Amino acid sequence: MRIDIMTLFPETVNAFLHESILGRAAKKGVIQINCVQIRDYTENKQRQVDDYPYGGGWGCVLMAQPLKSCLDSIMSTTKDLHSRVIYLSPQGVPFTQETAKRLKRDYEHLVLVCGHYEGVDERFIEACVDEEISLGDFVLTGGEIAAMAVADAVCRLVPGVLADEQCYTGESHWDGLLEYPQYTRPERWEGREAPPVLLEGNHDKIQLWRRKKQLERTKERRPDLFRAFVPVDRQDEELLRQLERDEKRVRLTEKPVCRPAEAGDLPDILAMVACARETLRRRGVDQWQGEYPAEEQLRRDIGRGECFLLTHRGEAAAFFVLSRLPEEDYERIRDGKWGYDGPCCVLHRAAVAEKYRGGEVSALMLRCVEEQARAWGLRCVRTDTHRKNKAMLALLRDGGFRYRGNLEISAEPGRDPRRQAYEKILKDR
Ligand SMILES: C[S@@+](CC[C@H](N)C(=O)[O-])C[C@H]1O[C@@H](n2cnc3c(N)ncnc32)[C@H](O)[C@@H]1O
Repeated sequence: MRIDIMTLFPETVNAFLHESILGRAAKKGVIQINCVQIRDYTENKQRQVDDYPYGGGWGCVLMAQPLKSCLDSIMSTTKDLHSRVIYLSPQGVPFTQETAKRLKRDYEHLVLVCGHYEGVDERFIEACVDEEISLGDFVLTGGEIAAMAVADAVCRLVPGVLADEQCYTGESHWDGLLEYPQYTRPERWEGREAPPVLLEGNHDKIQLWRRKKQLERTKERRPDLFRAFVPVDRQDEELLRQLERDEKRVRLTEKPVCRPAEAGDLPDILAMVACARETLRRRGVDQWQGEYPAEEQLRRDIGRGECFLLTHRGEAAAFFVLSRLPEEDYERIRDGKWGYDGPCCVLHRAAVAEKYRGGEVSALMLRCVEEQARAWGLRCVRTDTHRKNKAMLALLRDGGFRYRGNLEISAEPGRDPRRQAYEKILKDR
């Protein structure tokens, strides 16, 4: 791809376009960018490029002659190339990624004409320009910034400019969506964690998480793009259905607060237990289908300071019981082993209030579990759940818990005692 930029400020444009990635690509010969001084093509002694507008008014207008002579000189060197002459103008068609793709695909040579002052003589546009492109609905003093933007966006699509095609195919606007959020080291910065799913190395899960975030972001920030988006495959269709379900859920307007539960919280906690019990029953999961967890037990948890409540705007959103007491059943783990030798705490009972299900509260609850373990000076959290409890299994895995093997818990008579054992070793901060 060759790009010629017609400008009154070639040094400024050159300084930018010959830096960094584009500069290296130009050195390799993958792209060629030339900045051409329009003033070199004047036919008057003063090298004057502009004049007063006919009919009066403010400012000056670039004359057609130097522009045309400059363009002719460029074109005389590119006869074999398929060229496109573009005038950067606030009156042009707004520039998009699709325009960048089209220019890269359909042409070998672009001439970008930068206006200045009040613009350029209309007759030059009529005679010589193939299309007008705008950077957006605002007015710049000159076309240079717009030309640099177009040159940059087009050149990075040329093979060999970026390290890999994937560098741009996953980015915002490539397939009509915005990109997912990005994170880098450290894992925790000023109290904010990077999403655990990104740290686990499971590429399928990362891909799914990222695609969902792309859809969520686009829906939230650019409803115009979202309306025009056509799902690419079944996974997109399923994710769109998930988004619709998510929409119906309560949105957190502030970060939930986690505090030790008090006896007065028991009715809320019991309501969450009843609701979870019913959901598990409907889903055919033989967990919490008897008395467990009974009111008396929860009362004892509260008394020991091991029951915690998450509240959102003062409303009970979730609870969990985290115990430092040794768990005998966990000593008989089968088909695997625990990964941590030191003292651990055990996440025993947890539930989310119905209206907060399926949203962020569950993941936030797991973070509170970890915070509480750390507050006790512990570096490991263990838990168990039924193999059919898909929601809990997904939550644990997304939260960075690892499957360690199988257990049999002391279940009530007639109930399935089999559980899967999970563990999370907390990293040092
Ligand atoms: C001050 S502007 C002229 C604006 C012109 N009088 C008008 O109202 O349409 C000077 C030059 O900046 C460039 N320019 C200004 N805004 C632009 C935009 N949004 N996109 C692309 N180029 C722009 C054009 O090359 C234009 O000739």
